[in-house]
Amino acid sequence: MKRRDFVKAIPATAVLPAVLTTGAGMPKTAAAQTATTESAVTRAAKSLNLPDYAGKILHSDMDGLGPDGKPTGQKATFTGASKADAKAEKAAQHQMTLTQEEQDILDGKDGEEKAKLMKILVAYGNAFGAEELVDLGGAPHSNLFVGAQYMKSLIQMLDECAKVGLKSYAPYTVNPRPYDVYNVQNNPKDMTLVYEGYPLQRDLDYVHVRLGAPDLNYRSCACYLDEVGNAPEPGTYVAWAESSAVNYGNSVLGIRTNRNGSGMVEICAMLGKAPLFGLMTDEGRRAKWLVEVKTSKEPDWGALGTAIGRKCVEDVPYITGLDKYFEGGKVTPDNLHLLKAMGSATASSGAVGLYHVDGVTPDAKEKGRDLLVEGYQTYVYDDAEQKNVIGTFENLWPEKEGDPTAAFIGCPHNTYHEMVKWGRLVTEALDKAGKEEAAIPVYMFCPNKVRDRLVEEEGDLASKMKRAGMHATNMCGVSYAGMKGFSERVRGVTNSAKTRVYSTVRYFPDEILVKIVVTGKVPS
Ligand code: F3S
Repeated sequence: MKRRDFVKAIPATAVLPAVLTTGAGMPKTAAAQTATTESAVTRAAKSLNLPDYAGKILHSDMDGLGPDGKPTGQKATFTGASKADAKAEKAAQHQMTLTQEEQDILDGKDGEEKAKLMKILVAYGNAFGAEELVDLGGAPHSNLFVGAQYMKSLIQMLDECAKVGLKSYAPYTVNPRPYDVYNVQNNPKDMTLVYEGYPLQRDLDYVHVRLGAPDLNYRSCACYLDEVGNAPEPGTYVAWAESSAVNYGNSVLGIRTNRNGSGMVEICAMLGKAPLFGLMTDEGRRAKWLVEVKTSKEPDWGALGTAIGRKCVEDVPYITGLDKYFEGGKVTPDNLHLLKAMGSATASSGAVGLYHVDGVTPDAKEKGRDLLVEGYQTYVYDDAEQKNVIGTFENLWPEKEGDPTAAFIGCPHNTYHEMVKWGRLVTEALDKAGKEEAAIPVYMFCPNKVRDRLVEEEGDLASKMKRAGMHATNMCGVSYAGMKGFSERVRGVTNSAKTRVYSTVRYFPDEILVKIVVTGKVPS
């Protein structure tokens, strides 16, 4: 199925999909979730009247497209564990070992709600052949951020938990909200669309605050940024959702989490446990692909990630040839955006939940090529391959020949370094062109905490950016790009390969994007 045929329910990862279809108080088990190779979003789409407001949000089928754009036949489970043939019957046959404490919870010793949560968690683990539950550390990260009608049953379930006083074992971070009526949709037409499209946003925010999420200034998909502060120690078992965060956390921080669906994180958080399988295990973190990057110049990180995602789908790649872009093999606040861009593309064009970069990421530094499994496959990414991949990026604008109308920068959310870099790039280019204002609005997606730092440390630049029409906003750019009433009238441009996958927004390298922002034209 072509990605444009689809309306996507939630960007970035699968919802705890069974919840959407039961209508009863208790969701179907996660075992049922994995009982078919059909994607979660596909099933959600079939079983629901899709929300009209979702407009033109697209869906990456994540079923494995080769660099030529043709299907490879490989299926994804959306969990980071290659168990695409998982069956409900298998899950019923497998039974993980529970401790006495866990069994007591399952039997209702800590109340009916916690027993239900444990039932879901055990079924989820059984479906993937987990042998045990492990205690979680660090802090969870949730991708449950859309207060739309189709999330009602899940929000209600979590509300029931909050009402009886259940809470996350640690304060947790949450993805950005899908709208921002202060800085972006600050006009009556868009506000109407937003309030009609997301009637449960207040309920969802209320659930989060009671379960242990901090205030909205910390909302971000890049929860690992210093300003947001959710960066557990390497080796920590955690439950994270949000494909780009999971991918970055597993790979760059060295934490251990699977690619959880929406809602599963909160369940794990309230129990303080997760089933041990997939990317949380040594074996599951081994690489099935050796990706050799042999471009003559610094690669286009988004295109590289797209190529890897399409090739590996959800298998783990071991990537060589990138260490020269990380001085001393160090990932720092000033260069982490390179891995953020590449990784999020692997996670959206495919379903990669972990990658290793030779000489750079922690597992690779410790174990090197021993991470490769026997019989691994090799993929070479060179200049010709990069050209091929970029050549598959279609122009999906409603009016193909029209001029661009908005720029989307920061999916995943911008780092402080990126905000400063883009502020200077655009304002200096405008100065050079004798202009004060960009030709099109430039949405700079970032957590409020990053925006605040920019104002504090680079006040003059922040003012200049604002005057230039660069709007700092803490919302999710893809939710905006796909909003009904917006997607039909907008021809967006971006440097995010993830935004490209999920929307009609067109992808350009940074230097071209700056020109577009200044002139309002796509260079021929
Ligand atoms: Fe973040 Fe939304 Fe992109 S959650 S990664 S800005 S799709």
